[in-house]
Amino acid sequence: RPLTRLIVISNRVQAPTAEQPGAQGGLAVALTAALRETNGIWFGWSGEAGETEAPRFVTYDGVTSATIDLPEQDVEEYYDGYANRTLWPLFHYRLDLTEFERDFQGGYERVNQVFGDVIGPHIRPDDLVWVHDYHLIPLGWLLRRQGLENRIGFFLHIPWPPTKLLTALPHHRRLVDALFAYDVIGFQTREWLETFHDYVIHEMNGEIGADGTITVGSRTIRAIACPIGIDAQDFVVSRDSEEALATHARMVESSIGRSLIVGVDRLDYSKGLEERFSGYQRYLETRPGAHAHVYLLQIAPPSRASVQSYQDIRAQLDALSGRINGAFADIDWVPLRYVNHGYPRAVLAGIYRAARVGLVTPLRDGMNLVAKEYVAAQDPDDPGVLILSRFAGAAAQMDGAVLINPYSADDIADAIERALTMPLEERIARWRPMYENVMREDVTWWRRRFTDVLEQAPAGGRAL
Ligand code: G6P
Repeated sequence: RPLTRLIVISNRVQAPTAEQPGAQGGLAVALTAALRETNGIWFGWSGEAGETEAPRFVTYDGVTSATIDLPEQDVEEYYDGYANRTLWPLFHYRLDLTEFERDFQGGYERVNQVFGDVIGPHIRPDDLVWVHDYHLIPLGWLLRRQGLENRIGFFLHIPWPPTKLLTALPHHRRLVDALFAYDVIGFQTREWLETFHDYVIHEMNGEIGADGTITVGSRTIRAIACPIGIDAQDFVVSRDSEEALATHARMVESSIGRSLIVGVDRLDYSKGLEERFSGYQRYLETRPGAHAHVYLLQIAPPSRASVQSYQDIRAQLDALSGRINGAFADIDWVPLRYVNHGYPRAVLAGIYRAARVGLVTPLRDGMNLVAKEYVAAQDPDDPGVLILSRFAGAAAQMDGAVLINPYSADDIADAIERALTMPLEERIARWRPMYENVMREDVTWWRRRFTDVLEQAPAGGRAL
């Protein structure tokens, strides 16, 4: 049968370009293959401030992207504001950091409207439309208002918050109502799906069907748990590349026999970096014998730097890393290497392989693909140990990890000790099933699973 053309819409477009030939990030690798196969289009914001005009179409390496600029005020209210100062903290259980500004909500709805107006005319009746993430929740509803009867799906890459937290958001019901314009909505884990069910039951008087359907009033949609994976094939190519091997050799050499513990995260308060540093500090305090035999490499490229809470976390980490090194370093040993920029995937793969421990301790995370990449990078004959927060979506799939409570410095310190002393047989026994899962339930599996469900949905959904 002919392939249905896929239209992907997300805030950030990370399709490969002449300047950035490799796809950037998890979402990007996930979708470019499908777009290439179906001659699809990836719509989104250019990341630039400027007057919004018709989308700029660019085709590179068989993938077409179409982006628009947004006026400065829209960037501030929609992206910095509602997306990153309201929804992001709230959906990551950080009511204390959540800002409630009417202007933010106005900007959010305005930009979603602009997206709908600009993209709607490019959608053909039989296209499969797939909207991504918290920036664009109302978009499906706005497209329906234009009369679109396509199958439209939505995937949330971040957690779904508990009902009691979500109800702190002014007009929360309006936001969730809009979700019912989609035919299928996807969550990373059963846990987020179930918290969504809870809202539907208690706030919408809705009903959950045995087959994954949800009915509110006259509208029935499907909601599924569908965990995203890494681009396993592409990662293996990176992992086995010259660059990865060279990086591995460089890491081994610069470690001079010390065990490497690695963390790689966007510099975000949800990643639990302060708690991680404190846990590592606790380990150093309580195990003086380990000094000079171990070090932590934390790679944390800054993110969303125009938002105050991100400036704050950065300053706190600067101070904490300085304190740890000041207190524990010796003339020939630095316990913490803290790096504020990113690296290409092949370099990261080489670092992961050299690391005895992967330390992934978010306070809350939709999925976390670093955990999966760390596992995919290991040497099968001598794999390292993954220490993983029980509050990462990935924990539901990765039971070979040493699961920890990221709020507890003692828990982190104990897990580090356990990982560093774990016998080879146990490391292999824990690692192998995780590796198999990461390779099997990869990003292509994820994408096919979601789009299969979407293709089977009855067409012609209408807004509430
Ligand atoms: C998370 C979100 C993505 C987002 C990414 C980077 O993974 O789920 O939607 O693109 O963070 O954040 P940024 O604000 O730089 O796009």
